[in-house]
Amino acid sequence: MFHTRKWTLFATLLTLVAVILAACGAPADTGNTTASASPAASASAAASAAPESPAASASVAASASPEASMSPEASASAAASGAATAGGKLEIFSWWTNGGEADGLNAMFDIYKQQHAGVEIVNATVAGGAGTNAKAVLQTRLAGGQPPDTWQLHAGRETLSYVQAGQLEPLTAFFKEQGFDQVMPKLLLDQITIEGEIYTVPVNVHRSNMMWYNPKVFQDNNLQPPKTLDEFFTVAEALKAKGITPLAVGGKDGFEASHLFESVLLATFGPQDYTNLWTGDATAWADERVVTAIDTMARMLSYANEDRSARSWSEAAQLVLEGKAGMTIMGDWAEGYFLTQNAKPNVDFGYAPSPGTDGNFMWLSDSFGLAKGAPDRDNGLAWLAVAGSKEGQDAFNPKKGSIPARTDADKSLYDEYLQSSIAAFASNTLAPSAAHGAATTNAYQQAFHESLEVFSSDPTDTEGVLAALTEAVADLTR
Ligand code: GAL
Repeated sequence: MFHTRKWTLFATLLTLVAVILAACGAPADTGNTTASASPAASASAAASAAPESPAASASVAASASPEASMSPEASASAAASGAATAGGKLEIFSWWTNGGEADGLNAMFDIYKQQHAGVEIVNATVAGGAGTNAKAVLQTRLAGGQPPDTWQLHAGRETLSYVQAGQLEPLTAFFKEQGFDQVMPKLLLDQITIEGEIYTVPVNVHRSNMMWYNPKVFQDNNLQPPKTLDEFFTVAEALKAKGITPLAVGGKDGFEASHLFESVLLATFGPQDYTNLWTGDATAWADERVVTAIDTMARMLSYANEDRSARSWSEAAQLVLEGKAGMTIMGDWAEGYFLTQNAKPNVDFGYAPSPGTDGNFMWLSDSFGLAKGAPDRDNGLAWLAVAGSKEGQDAFNPKKGSIPARTDADKSLYDEYLQSSIAAFASNTLAPSAAHGAATTNAYQQAFHESLEVFSSDPTDTEGVLAALTEAVADLTR
């Protein structure tokens, strides 16, 4: 069982979060958690995609609080005032402090500064991957009525967390005026549309289920990147025998274990049954494959570095780059990190879908919203115009390690990994990330991250993590 002290600490943290969330208004929600056969169609059909709320969003809409929506007139006036910015400030809140993430953000700032020289950009970042720290700070600010103008959030059910708390201004008219509805795939439009209103501007698509490996280590030991979980354990055993840490895992940012676990779940359940885990139906978690996945995770951790709670995701990736570890499983922001280390794809680092998930693309999308009551509203809208533009996305994504949310990007600006990701997004079966808000609320993510980090520190406690995950299901619908 988990040590009582650990649970007391987490219980205290959870209570704190609950208090903060309660102050923001506890949302009750549903969401679109359908695995999608994808979208060569969806991508190329973007031009004709109807931005109107589809069935899935309609069900989301049914439970959204009416106060959360502004009138269409207000939304339209948001559009009207989007063009001119005379001066003042623009505060952008994110957790992009690391390697390629910060570089990508700065590339968009440069464009903004060229267009709006008189505006002072306040880059409000709170370090910590997946926003584990940033989101707590943001909630406190929102609860205290001191929002930044715009903040980073994930398309999908995470957006609903903010909409239901009445914290985001609808952007429908602005979005259409900018023509973004003509160039983004239906998948994304569905995820940002709630009760018929569009709430955020997606800037990218990331892939969660990626494995990064050291090609030299593999070559020297005559190994192939594992395609299945069984192959993973064969390769892991071979690397261990050579004194090389088979799998680098972080934990310092508080999301690395849940990130690994969602790939294990996808490999164990397949895309549709995996997707059904996030509908809020607790019976899905009674499936015996959940225990299989937890056991697989424990076995993987037995091949991982022991200092994981002291390493961030990028420090784990660094072990792979240096050949001290063979593999790591991380979203493709790891590619953004590798690029900042002057590493080249298929030379200094190799990549493959995480074992057992070939043909599936577990997606997430970073987007930006406009605070209701934004102190510098026009400057905020001007930022959203950059974030959604072709120029902005083609400056941001090649550095960030993500593919553009727009379908009209200049592919020649993207390296071979990203070009392969663009192709995979168009042809693979899509499944939403749970650790990064595509399928889950903020409250659920908190519980998911914490229960898996505790498990990562004590991978013998199958019952404890199973109980915590089962309990967390309630957070999927609030
Ligand atoms: C995700 C986010 C990515 C990247 C990652 C690690 O939640 O969507 O853009 O920032 O966390 O920090």
